[in-house]
Amino acid sequence: MLEIDALEVAYGSIHALHGITLRVTKGSIVTLVGSNGAGKSTTLRAISGLVRASKGSIRFEGKDITHCKSHEIVALGLAHVPEGRMIFTNLTVLENLRMGAYLRRDKRAIAQDLEFVLETFPRLRERLTQQAGTMSGGEQQMLAIGRALMGRPSCLMLDEPSLGIAPILVKTIFEKIIQVNRDLGLTVLLVEQNANLALEVSHYGYVLETGRILLEDRSENLRSNPAVQAAYLGA
Ligand SMILES: Nc1ncnc2c1ncn2[C@@H]1O[C@H](COP(=O)(O)OP(=O)(O)OP(=O)(O)O)[C@@H](O)[C@H]1O
Ligand SMILES: [Mg+2]
Repeated sequence: MLEIDALEVAYGSIHALHGITLRVTKGSIVTLVGSNGAGKSTTLRAISGLVRASKGSIRFEGKDITHCKSHEIVALGLAHVPEGRMIFTNLTVLENLRMGAYLRRDKRAIAQDLEFVLETFPRLRERLTQQAGTMSGGEQQMLAIGRALMGRPSCLMLDEPSLGIAPILVKTIFEKIIQVNRDLGLTVLLVEQNANLALEVSHYGYVLETGRILLEDRSENLRSNPAVQAAYLGA
């Protein structure tokens, strides 16, 4: 579904990605793990057209999107929930969710998807008229994911959904990620510093270090790899 080849990205003179190649198979959950500054967020930003590739290519469902604009990429069905969530804090929960469907005109399907999101995240239903910025970090993360789902993406990219969130909500959020992957067949590209969790829920993983892919394998193999355990799993 996503094919990234020899991708290079630089911020001025800082080379963030030195040629990374990765694949995300349709229907799978793939994770990128790595420490601070490894280039995880940059990879997602490049895929969604927020930063430009200086070399390499990005294809989504066979289409070359390397030079596409962000809004074109969203319209193709690739949603990005960035680090720090970026919800509209002054709008209500319901208004935020409706914003997620702004490209769509199919009122009935939108209503069905809203119902699906509220069933998936009952907390959001309880807080529909609440101002989004007054919710807890974990609730805001659920809203950000819910809003992305309202665009009916075929691929969802999540940047550190566990960051700064109470453990109990982290567990809920990861269960929901598994659920939408299983029930909707939604493809997920997950970026996490919490490698333990990420490798537990994903099928395949890439380990990134200073802009390069160090290792890739089925997630269960990465979890049992002594080098990964020592460097990323706190073993
Ligand atoms: N806007 C920017 N301008 C300059 N350098 C940047 C910018 N954004 C990121 N970088 C640099 O690019 C490299 C990769 O950053 P990136 O944010 O992709 O890392 P990350 O793996 O997501 O890290 P973290 O786990 O801390 O979120 C880092 O060295 C970072 O300092
Ligand atoms: Mg990051």
